[in-house]
Amino acid sequence: MKLWLDTDPGFDDWMAWALIESMPEMQLLGVSVVAGNAPLRQTLSNALRIKSLHGWTTAVHAGSEGPLSQAQVTAQDVLGDHAMATIERPLPAASAVLASTDAVLALSEALRSNPGEITVLAIGPLTHLAQLLAQSPQAAKQIRQLVIMGGSTDRGNATPAAEFNFLADAQAAHQVFESGVDIRMFGLNVCRQVLVGHEHVARLRATGSNKAHIFADHLAAYVNIAARRQAAYMSVYDPTPVAWLANPQWFNLQPARVDIELQGRWTTGMSVCELRVPDKALPNAQVAMTAQGPEIMAWMMRQLEQVLTCHR
Ligand code: BDR
Ligand code: CA
Repeated sequence: MKLWLDTDPGFDDWMAWALIESMPEMQLLGVSVVAGNAPLRQTLSNALRIKSLHGWTTAVHAGSEGPLSQAQVTAQDVLGDHAMATIERPLPAASAVLASTDAVLALSEALRSNPGEITVLAIGPLTHLAQLLAQSPQAAKQIRQLVIMGGSTDRGNATPAAEFNFLADAQAAHQVFESGVDIRMFGLNVCRQVLVGHEHVARLRATGSNKAHIFADHLAAYVNIAARRQAAYMSVYDPTPVAWLANPQWFNLQPARVDIELQGRWTTGMSVCELRVPDKALPNAQVAMTAQGPEIMAWMMRQLEQVLTCHR
């Protein structure tokens, strides 16, 4: 499968990228980095450090410094200044360098060379996708499928109503859902069915490599986000659509009409999901509703053990 990753690392972005790199059947053509969890300078630094630590060869492109039209919001209040909290070891300095500083151009060239073949996985604010679709409306036909981690059919996380990636660039999310691209949405409602806890940290640490200890230290800090709310388990966001790409049998999706609230006093960025299609509205996405959490976590652990053992 030919894949493009659009991301704003963030620990869960790292975990999603690692799962992709764990599968030989995934041909990752490029990674575009957007501002989101932190300002672009920081998400780029995180991306290059991750790539260097693992010795991956995938080209990393720098993209947008902020949302299309609104003020920038980040998740640093939850994820720390670097959006990459750790209980001990930090990500080492990067040796990898950027392939380009025009992520949207790089993505559009990849699509032009592989029309109808590339699945785009977007796990940050949708700024780049909106820019691409505005610049080149034929890109909507060249994308095989757009798989998104964002939104929710029920509660939000950044606000009671809105999920972070959609809140961070609500106008972009709106434009993408209006574009006619074939969309699969993995929102909070389904990602909250996939749970990670300290037993998973211990299992990955037992892999024993330096990489495994660094990854486990970051995963432990990620799980601790839930501990602040007196919960033992943290939801697994960005890696969940990767699990679906590999194991669709563990998920149920249903067609829906998804509209993004742009003006709500309390609800800006909310993904309003009408599931009664086509009676009430025409669908514009397939929305993930259920996931078999334990099977998915077991698969993720096996894949991550491979990545963290691998000496390449
Ligand atoms: C999303 O927001 C970010 O903080 C995570 O990386 C994920 O993409 C979850 O709402
Ligand atoms: Ca993300």
